[in-house]
Amino acid sequence: MSKTLRIGLLGLGVVGGGVVQVLAKEKEKLQKQTGVAISIDKVLVRPGEDKSALAKKYGFVLTTDFEDIVTDTNLDIIIELIGKVHPAKEFIEKALQNGKHVVTANKDLIAQHGVALNQLAKENRVSLFYEASVAGGIPILRTLTNNYLADEITDVMGIVNGTTNYMLTKMFENQLSYQIALEQAQALGFAESDPTNDVDGIDAAYKMVILAQFAYGMDVSMSDLEIEGIRSLTKTDVQAAQALGYEIKLIGRAKKYGQGIAVSVGPTLVDKYHPIASIKNEFNGIFIESSGIHQSMFYGPGAGALPTATSVLSDVVAIAKNKYLGIEPPLFNHFKVDTTLASDLEQIDSYYIALKVNDLAKVQAIFTEQAINIKKEHQQSDGWFVICEPIAKATLKELTPKLSTYAKIERVMKVIGE
Ligand code: HSE
Repeated sequence: MSKTLRIGLLGLGVVGGGVVQVLAKEKEKLQKQTGVAISIDKVLVRPGEDKSALAKKYGFVLTTDFEDIVTDTNLDIIIELIGKVHPAKEFIEKALQNGKHVVTANKDLIAQHGVALNQLAKENRVSLFYEASVAGGIPILRTLTNNYLADEITDVMGIVNGTTNYMLTKMFENQLSYQIALEQAQALGFAESDPTNDVDGIDAAYKMVILAQFAYGMDVSMSDLEIEGIRSLTKTDVQAAQALGYEIKLIGRAKKYGQGIAVSVGPTLVDKYHPIASIKNEFNGIFIESSGIHQSMFYGPGAGALPTATSVLSDVVAIAKNKYLGIEPPLFNHFKVDTTLASDLEQIDSYYIALKVNDLAKVQAIFTEQAINIKKEHQQSDGWFVICEPIAKATLKELTPKLSTYAKIERVMKVIGE
């Protein structure tokens, strides 16, 4: 008799609907390739939500009671697609405790409670997989955990939020205002229900916490990250960046400096010839530097029903393969070392500094005194925009008060592609 995996699905929104659709389309192929018949048997919807047409079409039962799913002994996997932390956390905990494998796309939850949830999965000898939580359709987490194990990663940087990349592309290329660009991103369905997390860099930060775990085996918490969104970017920033030969992207970065790492999210100047600059609109891209492979980039859709659903199902496939082979459920990410955060002295990067100057000669003299070499500069009325050679973050912090008598620092951003 062939093996089976029965799924209870929590949430039938955009991604949930995609999972139902993709599974129905690929069902036969999946059974042939994994040796396991996979079916969605029960779906949790909100009270009053009418999904009866979908239930009839795809042959599953609808319920509004989570208990109905978590206590159903016929179900092997719970796919959580309701998002946010509560009640998703409590649902997942109960599912794991009841011996069910869990697949989720919930980056908010995994970034904040992933360590404890992974431990719970291990104790209950079930799998907890979350490929779709980072960069939607790009298969980055399983690639890191498999293909980079024999490598040493030194830098993971990229665009992991589709909404802000869409907005910045429209602001750069079509001169759209911030507000119109945001409204378009919302209308196209890329933004979170409340876009605050997108534009303030929080959504990208959640994803970077997860990427750091897979790339370096280190658990950083959200409070360890420096996070800045795109809300305060101005036309002047965009024009100055372009004049210097750069684009502004919201970059998530987890970089190794010595033995420690620093994880950040912020608007960043990207050289217009760097591969990351080619990532436009809602697309995501993750650029990795490592000692073995050297440079690699993973590009694709970071959101959307079918890309995210396909990632969710890749986790179901992994569970099916393990079941077929009778393998003890593995942790998604085995790589774990002590977490070390890089100091301000160790963090050496190239910076863009935008200044409103009242005495340019004095300001230039301060740069010289501090031994900060300027690589590129642009002047526009009382604005002086410079890109400096790599300096320690500690040096940058010392520079700020020294400049304040002769200039106002309007903005500081890291630079990629130096
Ligand atoms: N709001 C997110 C984004 C969706 O724009 O990337 C995918 O996590």
